[in-house]
Amino acid sequence: MKLSVIGCGYLGAVHAAAMAELGHEVVGIDIDPAKIEALAAGRAPFFEPGLPEILVSASATGRLRFSTSMADAAGAEVHFIAVGTPQKKGSHAADLTYVNAAVAGLIPHLAEGDLVVGKSTVPVGTAAELAAKVAASGTGALLAWNPEFLREGFAVSDTITPDRLVYGLPPEAAQAERAKTLLDGVYATALAAGTPLVVTDYATAELVKVSANAFLATKISFINAMAEIAEVTGADVTQLATAIGLDDRIGWKFLKAGVGFGGGCLPKDIRAFTARAEELGRGESVAFLKEVDAINLRRRQRVVDLAVEALGGSVYDKKIAVLGLAFKPHSDDIRDSPALDVAVQLHGLGAIVTATDPQAIPTASRVHPQLAYAADPAAALMGADLVVLVTEWDEFRHMDPVWAKALVGTASIIDGRNTLDAAAWRAAGWTYKGLGRP
Ligand code: UDX
Repeated sequence: MKLSVIGCGYLGAVHAAAMAELGHEVVGIDIDPAKIEALAAGRAPFFEPGLPEILVSASATGRLRFSTSMADAAGAEVHFIAVGTPQKKGSHAADLTYVNAAVAGLIPHLAEGDLVVGKSTVPVGTAAELAAKVAASGTGALLAWNPEFLREGFAVSDTITPDRLVYGLPPEAAQAERAKTLLDGVYATALAAGTPLVVTDYATAELVKVSANAFLATKISFINAMAEIAEVTGADVTQLATAIGLDDRIGWKFLKAGVGFGGGCLPKDIRAFTARAEELGRGESVAFLKEVDAINLRRRQRVVDLAVEALGGSVYDKKIAVLGLAFKPHSDDIRDSPALDVAVQLHGLGAIVTATDPQAIPTASRVHPQLAYAADPAAALMGADLVVLVTEWDEFRHMDPVWAKALVGTASIIDGRNTLDAAAWRAAGWTYKGLGRP
């Protein structure tokens, strides 16, 4: 099928390349010329494992093109909206500027029978408003909502083999049927492989996405709240998580206590959900998400407090090696990153921070040039008075404590992800402190 993908960020670039890889003819469109130039040359503008490979292989088939001109969307039968919906400045609500601009820019290029498919995460009610705009354009095109659940770091496999598909279809039966047929064509490979499909209305499809992210955020903040209780009782939150996770109604996934969640989705999605619920007069229904957010932000402060404590009451003029900048491993994304936040806070308190990360130094140094960056852990550790691990990259998890001890000034480490073998680090002579652990 002929597809266009409007917006070539973390979501759109992967979607465009993956759809071409699956056999569709795809044009990816973005207003950023640098991004389009990189993608057209087969280079990923951000770190995402597997993306460079499919960019090259799909481009070689001639099925994948990139453009800065919306006019190039003409001729495609399905148009995906994959632009960002960041947090509005000075508010918790989502900023829909890019989504509205994408749909408005696309409308003049739509033809009878085309389908516009929203993938961006939006406040419930947005799809109905956009469908009305598409209908009013008189193009005869339809709109569907098809939320995306990909995780950064696993975006390629999550797109090619998703764990479920959700279609939010127009209310009118014949239109819904037409939209479904087109979407079934797009996702023919995944459907043939038995991927579960939920066919529903616009509002449910929009809510599936935000409620999934709200649930994941709640699960993380739940275990981090238990970490706070563990800290005042001498309990060990990692053992607690193992024990409660053995109940398969609870499960062990997303029960890793640490410095908390970040990234371009979870933090802003729970805030936008709260703002939207308040607009709808149902603020109390998701008021707990404010607690989820507050618990999450307290864990960053906890790491900073532990650093102050470990250094005898002040970090001023102390050398601190910060291991990690990205919001999670396998990504160079620093949006709302707990790791970067901790590094910046420690620097603000007068510490001499040297941060390292296998991928996120270029993105972090653009936003925070005041920090010192080291290309590898050895350079960051050199002479450090304290080590703070805040992103659980394999390079850090598998670090040899004996090797690391020879580099630092003082063998003291805060494991902000509870990811190191505490016994091994202590045996090597380190003062080890985890989160929610004695
Ligand atoms: C998330 C959702 O998982 C995905 O379905 C949605 O489409 C977009 O948002 P992503 O932002 O890529 O994906 O990251 P995810 O893997 O969910 O991790 C989010 C954050 O939670 C990271 O900062 C991670 O370090 C943290 N986390 C995760 C924990 O602190 N503890 C855990 O147990 C799990």
